[in-house]
Amino acid sequence: MKQKMLFFLSGVFLFVLVLLLTGCQEQPRLTFMVGGAPNELAFFEGLLASFTAETGIEVALIRQSTDSTQRKQGILLALRGHRPDPDVMLLDVAWIGQIAASNWLEPLESYGINREDYFASIIKLADTYENRLIGLPLYIDGGLLYFRRDLLQKHGFAGPPQTWSELRQMAEQIVPVEREQNPNFWGYVWQGAQYEGLICNTLEFFTSAGGGFFNGTATPVIDQPANIEALRYMNELIHKQPISPPNTFTDMKEEEVRMHFHNGNAMFERNWPYAWGLHNAVDSPVKGKVGIAPLPGFMTGKSASTLGGWHIVMSKFSDKKPEAASLIKYLTSAPVQKKLSLKLGWNPGRVDVYEDEEVLTANPALKDLKQVFNNAVPRPIIPYYSNVSQILQKHVSAALANRATPEESLKKAQSEVQEMIKSYGIR
Ligand code: GLC
Repeated sequence: MKQKMLFFLSGVFLFVLVLLLTGCQEQPRLTFMVGGAPNELAFFEGLLASFTAETGIEVALIRQSTDSTQRKQGILLALRGHRPDPDVMLLDVAWIGQIAASNWLEPLESYGINREDYFASIIKLADTYENRLIGLPLYIDGGLLYFRRDLLQKHGFAGPPQTWSELRQMAEQIVPVEREQNPNFWGYVWQGAQYEGLICNTLEFFTSAGGGFFNGTATPVIDQPANIEALRYMNELIHKQPISPPNTFTDMKEEEVRMHFHNGNAMFERNWPYAWGLHNAVDSPVKGKVGIAPLPGFMTGKSASTLGGWHIVMSKFSDKKPEAASLIKYLTSAPVQKKLSLKLGWNPGRVDVYEDEEVLTANPALKDLKQVFNNAVPRPIIPYYSNVSQILQKHVSAALANRATPEESLKKAQSEVQEMIKSYGIR
């Protein structure tokens, strides 16, 4: 009996040992670093499973948040340390130039990845460094105005606002009536927290007032009168007959803004195209009630949309480059790009998807959006852009928080950007 027991126990021991040993043996796994809303990450999980089924290559998803600045920090940590993971990752159009200039990205063409099928202007702007292809646009973003179609109709308006003053007038008329049923209801929600998204919104306000950040590529023109006026308008949205919530400058990033509108608590919303699919999801409280339009301008026809978007790249330090190339090819293939558009409402980087019948039927707005994206305003394409953005974030935020006037804050931003450029010896 005792012997039997011993025999049984040693069997169990051996079995556990084998399990432990095989478990410890590391599987060669590709790593893909990506951020986004929960539905986007879930979608990527599904895509990666199909990729593994097709190719036999295992991929681990390294999840990031939606916040571009935080995503950049995570990516820099890995690249600065020359770590082999992540092999593949997504970079924001705002800072892909800086990372490329650090020589941390693997040129792609020798792996049979080419540029022909993508928007040539975007490839030129963001995905080439010293004439070599270092990335591909997985999707293109542009700022859009979302509005409650049902409420516009209910309150007797024929269409969405074309100018910022129309937006204010409409909100001032609609909000008090809607608040009788919903005390949480606001006029306009937008990304006003101190992070990269604030700069995207600011660029839209400034450009649509006839201003902007730079004259050409190297001369900052931040404290010009058009920008001061635009910043005053942004401040007044929150403080003077407020139509934007008081936490606009403390909390509002993409997802906070989207949830606000999604839950039926706002008339107008500024967001990227990803919000469209979510607002129209089966369980969305605003399903079927939402319209999209170009953002208003300070004058009719002066709308401006910031160019955003995320680009897929391979790390120079990857130890699985051929497998990494297969993943990039898969995620940028026409069928997957079509899926991104159909399931997430994203705007593909591939041109052919915009002609696809099924895509156009599912998302008729895509045709008009193509126009918005063609005219989208890029953030300054300079390797030190992130420093410019940090300075602007600090001072625009101070003006929104009433810690400085628009004049004071833009004056300070102008001189700090000038100093920074001088200290880097940039001409
Ligand atoms: C979106 C855009 C990106 C931008 C970011 C700001 O992710 O695609 O370009 O920098 O929003 O929050």
